[in-house]
Amino acid sequence: KPFLKTRYLGHTGEYHDLIGSTNDRAKELAANKVPEGFLVSANGQTAGRGRFGRSWNSPPGQGLYFSLVLYPSLPPVELPRLTLLAGLALAQALENLGVNVQIKWPNDLLINGQKVAGILTEIAAEAERTIYAVVGIGINIEPLDEEVKSSFAYPATALKEHLPGVSRQSLLAMFLERFEKLYEEFKKGEFAQSLTEYKKRLAFLGEEVMIITGDREYIGVLHDLGEDGSLIINDGNTVKRFAAGEISLRRK
Ligand code: ATP
Ligand code: BTN
Repeated sequence: KPFLKTRYLGHTGEYHDLIGSTNDRAKELAANKVPEGFLVSANGQTAGRGRFGRSWNSPPGQGLYFSLVLYPSLPPVELPRLTLLAGLALAQALENLGVNVQIKWPNDLLINGQKVAGILTEIAAEAERTIYAVVGIGINIEPLDEEVKSSFAYPATALKEHLPGVSRQSLLAMFLERFEKLYEEFKKGEFAQSLTEYKKRLAFLGEEVMIITGDREYIGVLHDLGEDGSLIINDGNTVKRFAAGEISLRRK
């Protein structure tokens, strides 16, 4: 707290030694209107979640697991952009510590092509109005158990393999500072600049990728991101757009 240079992110919060999911807890608190920027963090999670109900491996003491409660008065359709902003903020914080990262659209951070962190944004809305948004982040800090790692759908890594002396506290503080700035701009309608910064770190740009939806697979070149943050794929004949939240992305 004394080091935290934010205006409000992380000024209120609770810490859990072990919890099911910080996102679940944050949603519960958001429904009860805790202050904006409320931070739920945990040393370990027993039911950490990724997208599509997949599980996020969160062993005690091995990572940074936290969720933020936000009340943006923006239409729900714009809120998937929070995932992009959080990814960018985390990328910038890690770059500041001296490690190069790429962002696997929409929600994963890669170091040397291996997943080091993931973001899960969940929202509640009613009649096109946002009630709350919860942005949850999981970062692998300590090297992962080899057996666990090999069970993942995508190659994984941990921050200490690249930055042995990293401090969780200061990484969290740096993330909160960057994210608060991006979030404030976003609420003022300034998303374009963040998108430009995000694109600089976009993994697989110009490369052939595979898009996995619930029932289909598409192959094409990752061409660009739309101004709304959607993914644009060119398969030689047609250009297709995908919204965050509906697909998984793979390098072909
Ligand atoms: P992917 O390309 O991995 O499918 P995704 O964004 O489609 O990415 P997510 O739901 O974001 O999938 O991530 C959850 C997946 O990540 C899990 O199915 C698992 O394979 C993998 N995973 C779970 N825990 C971790 C972890 N701590 N670090 C890295 N990967 C993990
Ligand atoms: C993903 O890659 O699918 C996103 C993983 C998000 C994991 C974090 S850990 C803190 C928060 N609580 C959860 O249950 N999930 C997010």
